[in-house]
Amino acid sequence: MLALDIQNLGKIFKGKKRQIVDALQGVSLTVPEGEVFGFLGPNGAGKSTTIKCLMGLIRPTTGSANIMGVAAGTEASKRHVGYLPENPAFYDYLSAEEYLSFVGRTFQMQESLLQRRREEALKLLELWDARKRPIRGYSKGMVQRVGLAQVLIHDPSVYILDEPMSGLDPIGRALVKEIILDLKKRGKCVFFSTHITDDVEKVCDRVGILLHGQLKLVERVDTIMTQGIVGYQIRIRNSDGKSVDHQVTKDMLDGFIAGQVASGNEVVLVEPRRKNLEDLFLALVHNGAGSSS
Ligand SMILES: Nc1ncnc2c1ncn2[C@@H]1O[C@H](COP(=O)(O)OP(=O)(O)OP(=O)(O)O)[C@@H](O)[C@H]1O
Ligand SMILES: [Mg+2]
Repeated sequence: MLALDIQNLGKIFKGKKRQIVDALQGVSLTVPEGEVFGFLGPNGAGKSTTIKCLMGLIRPTTGSANIMGVAAGTEASKRHVGYLPENPAFYDYLSAEEYLSFVGRTFQMQESLLQRRREEALKLLELWDARKRPIRGYSKGMVQRVGLAQVLIHDPSVYILDEPMSGLDPIGRALVKEIILDLKKRGKCVFFSTHITDDVEKVCDRVGILLHGQLKLVERVDTIMTQGIVGYQIRIRNSDGKSVDHQVTKDMLDGFIAGQVASGNEVVLVEPRRKNLEDLFLALVHNGAGSSS
């Protein structure tokens, strides 16, 4: 089943002084269950606007979306989703433990299951020691961790995360990547926005690049990584035990290695030199600059 089915989604914001922002233009995209999808775009590209349409927080000007076959924004669709907003703000007089209980009860979870999942989430996000303190006393990263804990609590099928790594230290970022990969292993769909290409390379099956409200590219990350190979660095050890590095283009690779092996040399290392997702992203942003607003 398709976890997300977005068809021709568009959003025009109309400001007070007749200011118009064409934030999203005809975005169509499907994401199956079990896929991790990175929604990549620079500031102001329309990532949060798309996500808010999916969550029914704003109404799209054109198009529609389904989540697990149910119209996005409806109560029925929200049951399938764990949602992390861009700048999560919670009832800050509650403690993390109280807030997670509130979320679990909203999803009508059975109390014993809720208690178990709450404990797991608090421990996983390293909030256990702070669990009884009011959220208002939490640091920025701790608030983000509460946001991540609350998406896990009811074990939904689809995770829509607006910049999940934002505000986290390197250990926190690594933890979020682990959590995303674990969700994937369990057959869940994770759709997350970011402007950090490295995060996409590490955890995503596919990436969509959004620029000025338009989806410019949707591609498998492994395809981008393979197509990005421009050549290889090859280390050869000859019969005297001396190592020498060679730079070889993509089309010379097979012949070069065959020649070395035939001469009795040992191929110690073959390392691709590649253009990465960041190069592609920057090239797209650069070429797309000035095409709108
Ligand atoms: N409520 C609003 N009223 C008017 N314009 C809006 C509103 N919300 C968003 N926009 C505009 O829509 C465009 C897309 O904004 P959006 O928040 O979706 O970007 P984003 O890709 O999430 O960026 P960021 O990486 O900074 O979070 C921007 O030009 C923004 O100013
Ligand atoms: Mg945003």
